[in-house]
Formats: sequence, C-alpha cells, structure tokens
Amino acid sequence: MTTPPGGHAGIYDALMWPVERLAVAEWRRRLSAQASGRVLEVGVGTGSQLRWYRSDVVVTALEPNAAMAARARRRAARASAPVVVVDGAAEELPFGAASFETVVFTFAFCSVADPERALAEARRVLVPGGRLLMIEHVHLPWQPGRWAQSRLAPFWAAAASGCRLDRDTVELVRAAGFRTGEVRRHVLGWVVELPALAPGAATGDGAAMSEGGATSGDAAAKSGAATTGAAA
Ligand SMILES: C[S@@+](CC[C@H](N)C(=O)[O-])C[C@H]1O[C@@H](n2cnc3c(N)ncnc32)[C@H](O)[C@@H]1O
Repeated sequence: MTTPPGGHAGIYDALMWPVERLAVAEWRRRLSAQASGRVLEVGVGTGSQLRWYRSDVVVTALEPNAAMAARARRRAARASAPVVVVDGAAEELPFGAASFETVVFTFAFCSVADPERALAEARRVLVPGGRLLMIEHVHLPWQPGRWAQSRLAPFWAAAASGCRLDRDTVELVRAAGFRTGEVRRHVLGWVVELPALAPGAATGDGAAMSEGGATSGDAAAKSGAATTGAAA
C-alpha cells in the first residue's frame, strides 16, 4: 500500500453529518441510482455511501484503515444491498480483471497517493464499458481559488491524512481513458459528481456520455459562479 491509512474514524461522521444533510446525501443517492451489478467502492471509510445502494447490486467495499472499516461493517449490516468490507488500497486492487460492473469513489480519490495507478487499477477491474462513479472535491478551475488551493495543499495533506486539495480529478479520469458523462459541479466548482465509462462495449446508455464530457455548471464554475442549485 502506498497511502498511509487515514485516521479520524471517530470524528469523521460527526463532522460530515451537517454536510451530508445539507447536500451530500442527495449526491450519494444520485450516484447509487447509476450503480449496477457488482459494485466496488474504493475507500469506503465509515460507510456513508452504503445505505444508498439498491438491493439489486452486490457491493464490495475496500478500506485500508481498520477503524474506518469497523464502522463500515456496522453500516453494511444495515444496508439494503449485500456488502462485504475488505482490506486493500486503490493502487493495488486485490481483484481479478473485469470483476465489477461499477467502481465508486466518494471523497476518497483525493486521498489516494498515486491517482494514475488507482485509475489504471479501476479500469483493469471494470468490465469493458463498466461504470466509474465519483463524488470528489477537486482543484478549482478558476483563479484565485486554484492558486489558493495549490498553496494550501501541502499543509492540508499533512493535516488530513494525505487528502489533496489540488487534484485535477476530471482531467485524470479522461487521461486514464475513461469517457466522462455529465459533470455536475457544486460549491463553486469545488465538488464534482463525475460519471464515466471504461473503454469497451457500450452499456446501453453510452449516448449520455460524450468524449470530453458534457459539463453541468462547468462554464459557471470557471467564472466562479455558484452552481450547486443548478446541478442538484
Ligand atoms: C474522506 S474518507 C471518505 C470515506 C467515504 N468514501 C465517504 O464518502 O465518506 C477517505 C477514505 O479513503 C481511504 N483511503 C485513503 N487512501 C486510500 C487508498 N490508497 N486506497 C483506498 N482507500 C484509501 C481512507 O482510509 C478513508 O477512509
């Protein structure tokens, strides 16, 4: 594993609670509605996403931090979908090629030490045309926000278990060969809902995806305008 295990299991849920109620729960619900078949959630943390999966998917939840995983297991027991929580890291997924129809990252890709390798692994374990679904905070597309994030990033990473404020997640996903769909941007472009398809056979809704990606709120985000309401 190349990423030190993240901590803060005890306070993570308490800190996230108001944010979840305000907006994140709605994004999680929308992400889960797109998940199908065998789902791999990478960096499941305390399991905040688990309650949203439909009962017709089968979830494998990967988490390198034991304290986080213990909480996720308690939530797994209450989820509608069958969930198994396993140890492992995004950069070296302990699964064979083409093992999943869906791979999910929610607020976890920002903490992965080697993002290119993690995406290569996600692509490997997805079936051709499989779905990559993300909710992530990203490097802002507008100045001076982007500049400020770049300056803050090393300090934030040191304080927050390696979490990067300056990750260009959408561009990294495209560079890894995924075809991105509509990118919904929230909080002045800081958080994205990012659906993408792995190369290969179409899954039936390929029309919703486009090379380069449609972007809900993208132009507004670049100019610094609020996009939360428009995209949610
Ligand atoms: C901020 S938490 C997010 C948890 C959860 N996905 C959510 O939406 O609330 C980030 C999680 O990613 C995990 N993580 C960090 N590096 C990782 C890696 N290389 N592979 C897999 N998970 C990782 C951390 O242990 C932590 O549980």
